[in-house]
Order: sequence, then structure tokens, then C-alpha cells
Amino acid sequence: MANSGVTNSQRSSLHGNWSSKLAFILAVTGAAVGLGNIWKFPYMVGMNGGGAFVVIYLVCVFVIGLPIMMSEIMLGRRGRRNPIATMRILGKEEVGHEKWVLAGIIGVFAGFLILSFYSVIAGWTLAYVFKAAANAFANTDATGISNMFDAFVGNPFVIGFWHTVFMTVTVFVVALGVEQGLEKAVQIMVPALLLLLLLLLGYAINSGGFMDGLRFLFQPDFSKLNGEIVLSAMGHAFFTLSVGMGSVMAYGAYLPQDASIVRISAAVVVADTLIALLAGLVIFPIVFANQLDPAEGPGLVFQILPLAFGQLAGGGLFGTLFFLLLSFAALTSAISLMEPTVAWVIESFRLSRKTAAIVVGFIIWLLGILTVLSFSTLKDMKLFKGTPFDNFDYLASNILLPLGGLMVAVFAGWIMCSDSSSDELDPAEGYIYRAWRLLTRFVAPAAVLIVFLHAIGVFE
Ligand code: PFF
Repeated sequence: MANSGVTNSQRSSLHGNWSSKLAFILAVTGAAVGLGNIWKFPYMVGMNGGGAFVVIYLVCVFVIGLPIMMSEIMLGRRGRRNPIATMRILGKEEVGHEKWVLAGIIGVFAGFLILSFYSVIAGWTLAYVFKAAANAFANTDATGISNMFDAFVGNPFVIGFWHTVFMTVTVFVVALGVEQGLEKAVQIMVPALLLLLLLLLGYAINSGGFMDGLRFLFQPDFSKLNGEIVLSAMGHAFFTLSVGMGSVMAYGAYLPQDASIVRISAAVVVADTLIALLAGLVIFPIVFANQLDPAEGPGLVFQILPLAFGQLAGGGLFGTLFFLLLSFAALTSAISLMEPTVAWVIESFRLSRKTAAIVVGFIIWLLGILTVLSFSTLKDMKLFKGTPFDNFDYLASNILLPLGGLMVAVFAGWIMCSDSSSDELDPAEGYIYRAWRLLTRFVAPAAVLIVFLHAIGVFE
């Protein structure tokens, strides 16, 4: 191994460095903020009974997700390679063997799997940009909008087309490389998305269902919880923060040495959580004001927000802007889902970035067809968790991400010597470092294990 024994200050990234700390913060925010916040969070809350799910999700985000995000960025910056090579190098450095590479492999596989369905949903978002622009939501009631959605996802050729468009754009950006491709897109997107959500919040407050929405989101009824729901809340915490699969690790590889990992992680986690809660605060009041079903599933956002846009003055314009921004948010997340695999293919097979992006993109696109069909031809499939989409999501979010995160936590907390980690996180070894170490060594691994065991019924 060419790099074993090389310290991190000597090692430099193969893909260039971030032009500034700000660019890195924006990129990690861009990876974190995406469909997970605005599409997945609300429908998961709706399907899992509301407030209690939200409480577990919030606890998981701050107690498990945040310390693991810090660990991942730290490992990435020390390894300065793709997640698989990074875990191999660091394992060799710290314990003299390469078995920890498994954490990198799990992550790359998870990213691959997630992107295959993520791209399909991002394709829906793209299509909705055009629907909004054509004023398709105006003068349409809830039934009309719901029929429109059903007809749309029920046509595999149409959603297959949009999946293809989205995947092509993603490949294009990834092929352009770190500097030109990744840094630019995020700067305006997140604040603009926040602004539009605030505008929609104004609509939601006046919708007549605001108190019901608020109660549904924040009044926990813990009797609704079971092992599976807790596992879903934890899985979603990993998904929404983009941790457990090496994409944050891959970005950490390009982070300048003097940037504060603690501050960056905290900022990203807070921003990501705020956007998700805001999306919930917008969606549920509209659900209850129209006597709709919060447990609608993956179509929820696409059936609720158009209702608001259809009634708002200037809704055509705002709707177009909103779905456009959401498509951008999905794109920056998709890029981060693809980056670990592409970086790994480039470094392992010595392909050019362009070739690697095209090959990886094509295979993911092909796998995505199974998700495309999950809403029509394969809709009634009941294999294991249901349709291919259900299974891909379950496997990636509820199993691979927590498992990847568990390995990252154990490696960063137990295997890596404390001099290395304090050096990266908090050289003074103050309370932040001690809190991180406590959470990473004990709390996060124990929580992941208990939730896993609970979900498979060990405690019943
Ligand atoms: N965090 C992204 C979202 O919430 O949409 C999705 C995601 C991106 C998951 C990157 C995992 C990942 F590595």
C-alpha cells in the first residue's frame, strides 16, 4: 500500500481540494438537504403515526447522526481517498490490517442502491417543474391533483423518461469533477428553498388545518411506536444527513486541514433538520385542512404541495420555482451519492473521471428501472418488504446506512488512537471532544445495535 505510514498532513487528495471552507460547508449541506427532507421526511412521519416518530428521529439525528458525521469527515480528511481506500489505509495505519475496508464497501454499495431510486423520485420533481409552469394545478381540487399524480407515476415510460433525464444530468456534473461540478450549485439553492418554504408556511398557517398539523407533528403518542418504526426513524436520520455511506467521507477527503469539523457538522445538521421540520409544518396543515390521509406514502408531497400552489396567487411561478429548487437540491445530493462509487472506480480501475461517471451512471440507471416499475407494473409485488423500491429503500436506509455508520463510529471511537481524533476534532481535548468520544464510543454503537435487535424481534 503506497500510502501506509504516511501522515495526513503529508497526504493530499487525488481530486483537488475545496477552494474554501465555505465551499465545503455548502457541498455537505447540498448532500444533506434534498428529497430526504422534503419528500421522504413528511411521508415517513405520515406513515409512522406522527409526533413519536419525529421525536425518535430528532434524538437519532443529534445523538447518533451528528457524532457520526463528525467521525466521517474526520476519517475522510485523514484518509484523503475514496471511502474504500480511506478505510483500507486508515485500518492499516491504526491496526495493521485492511478488514475495515468493509465499512467503505458497505457505503459505496448503499450509495449505489439509494441513487437508483433517488433518481426516479428526482425525475418526478423535474416533471412537476413543467406541470407547475403549465399551471396544471390551478383550479384543481385534491381529487384532481391526486388523479394527476396516479396517472403520472402509473406510466412507466413517462417516469422512466424523467429518470433518464435526471441521471444524465447527474452523470454530466460528476464527470466535470470536483472543482467545476460540485462547488457552484449549492450557494443559492438552500437559502432560496428556505424562503419558498417560509412562503408556503404562510399559506399553511392560514389553511385552517395548522393546529391539527402542529399536533400531528409534535404531539408524540409513544403507544404508536414499535421496533420497526424506531428503526425507520433511525434509518431516516442516517439518510437525511447522508451519513453511514461514505459520501461525507468522500467530501472530507477534499477538506482543508484548518477547517473546524465540529462547527461544520453542527451547522449542517441544524440546517438539515430545520428544513425537514419546516416541510412537515407546511405539508400536514394542508393535509388536515383538506381531510386527506397523512399516511398516503411516497406520493404525499406531490399531492399536497400542488394543492397549495393551485390556490396561491402567483402559484404557477412559485410552484415552478419550488420544484426547480427541489430538483437542484436532489441533484446536489445525487452527486454526493455517486461520488464515492466514481472516486473508487477511478482509483481502482484507473479510468478517467468521465468514463467512470458514465459507466457507473449507466448501471445505476438500469437498476432504477426496477423502481420506475414499482409504481405501475410491479406495484402489487409483495416480495419481502413489497416492491423493488420498498426493498431498496429498506435495505439501504434501515440496514446498510446504520451498519456503515456503526462501523465508522467503532473505528473512529475505538480503533483510531485518541491522539489522532483529538488532533482532528478538538486539539485541546475540551468538552466537545469528550462529548463526541462518549457518543461515538458508547451511545451511537449501542443505540444502533439495540434498535437493530429490537426490529428483528430479539426483545419480544
Ligand atoms: N441526504 C439526502 C437527502 O436527504 O435527500 C439523501 C442522501 C444523499 C442520502 C447522500 C445519502 C447520501 F449519501
